[in-house]
Amino acid sequence: MRKPCIAANWKMYKTMGETEAFLKAFIPAVSSVGDVDIVVAPPFTSLYTASQLLKGTNIKLSAQNVYYEAEGAYTGEVSTKMILDIGCTHVIIGHSERRQYFGETDEILNKKAKAAKAAGLSVIFCIGESLEERNTGKTFDIIKREIEGGLKDIDSDNLVIAYEPIWAIGTGITATPEQAQEAHAYVRDMLRNLYANKADEIRILYGGSIKPENIKEIMSKPDVDGGLVGGASLKADSFEKIVKFNK
Ligand code: 13P
Repeated sequence: MRKPCIAANWKMYKTMGETEAFLKAFIPAVSSVGDVDIVVAPPFTSLYTASQLLKGTNIKLSAQNVYYEAEGAYTGEVSTKMILDIGCTHVIIGHSERRQYFGETDEILNKKAKAAKAAGLSVIFCIGESLEERNTGKTFDIIKREIEGGLKDIDSDNLVIAYEPIWAIGTGITATPEQAQEAHAYVRDMLRNLYANKADEIRILYGGSIKPENIKEIMSKPDVDGGLVGGASLKADSFEKIVKFNK
């Protein structure tokens, strides 16, 4: 059985003070949750604040991005060693916003995922098609390309996949549970090609307009093993309800 994983991606939201206020409310609210892995991904500038507050709790810390070189003259970048040092156990790689706005290609993302895995970080690797790609019947081609390119020569240990259809991100349009399951089943098949039986241990999260009202239905699908939550993870009570979807 795959343990559900619910992760908050705060994107470019929350100062240190806002991070502290959120976590001071959220940590006690979910301290008794043992059947779900909880991950929070604040922006880089809030990681230290979060890491201090999360010590000894059941909540894991993730970065939203990382660079693949170990160190050097790469102005503005942050290494795997730095995010480990600050207390991260996870890193999100390949979010569609990184692909779209920052030109990250499958090749770059593959290098990032390799560096992160080599450093011992759990990688939340994001994939997903645009509306145009879906409407022109290319969904599975895109998923295939992103998995084959992004996960080339990467083993399955500590690997989490997040299927986030771009048309569902921040739009209020959630994929139906059936659409999510269809894509996740396709991802699972691809993972079987790459990792054989180990594919059944890999969590595939769904992301895109998850809310307290729709998480339970999405989670009821057999290949949906969790969620990567943007907007609805920014308020402690809303994210608490999502984490407690099965209560
Ligand atoms: P929303 O939940 O705001 O749609 O964002 C999803 C997402 O991009 C999480 O990484």
